[in-house]
Amino acid sequence: MKKITIAIDGFSSTGKSTLAKQLAKKLKYVYVDTGAMYRAVTLYAFQNGFIDNSSFDEKALIADLDSIKIHFVFNSRKGFAEVFLNDVNVEKEIRTLEVSQLVSQVSAVSEVRTKLVQQQQEMRKDNGIVMDGRDIGTVVFPDADIKFFMTASADKRAKRRYKELLDRGEENITYERVLKNVESRDYIDSTREDSPLVKADDAIGIDNSDMGLEEQFDRVYNLILRYV
Ligand code: DC
Repeated sequence: MKKITIAIDGFSSTGKSTLAKQLAKKLKYVYVDTGAMYRAVTLYAFQNGFIDNSSFDEKALIADLDSIKIHFVFNSRKGFAEVFLNDVNVEKEIRTLEVSQLVSQVSAVSEVRTKLVQQQQEMRKDNGIVMDGRDIGTVVFPDADIKFFMTASADKRAKRRYKELLDRGEENITYERVLKNVESRDYIDSTREDSPLVKADDAIGIDNSDMGLEEQFDRVYNLILRYV
């Protein structure tokens, strides 16, 4: 079978990584969660006092970018690669609502994007790859063999994310806070100047507001089979 590049973009909490993980497992491809990389940089900025809820010292973060090393290590028990920030596994820390509230500001910084996009492009090599994010089909791999663009209503997405955070044991969260976060990230991600979240002209749109995981997987997988 031919090894191809699969790009999955879309709004926050549309289940991009769930779909990407399912596809990578089935096809025995590498899966890269680029959101985890932006989250890791955000965690670094937060830990070093460059950003909080009221201020963002963009210049200090840019000056320190060379000190940020991000890599993934495959966890065979979990079946996906976990993200490491300067050799520390931060998979759990990057998923909090706190990081989610800061990440869109950090990912709007061009210097951050240049660094991470270059690293993402180097991950492709000759292997089959499934990469998910906001700009994979438009910027990282405009030549991807197949591109998907996922959407769902903000209410459905916030409900899913809220349940996920509760299951993970996060406290002090409400549905309203999660909905507000989803909406504000949609806004910042799609209106930023550098690589805004837009559907690539050749991407296939998937609205999964009323679609089960299995139905979605079957639909996408059948489309992919035409290319491999
Ligand atoms: O996929 P996610 O929700 O974990 O992504 C977190 C944030 O990172 C998202 O709000 C915008 C940013 N991001 C980005 O700008 N470009 C990407 N390729 C992936 C994520």
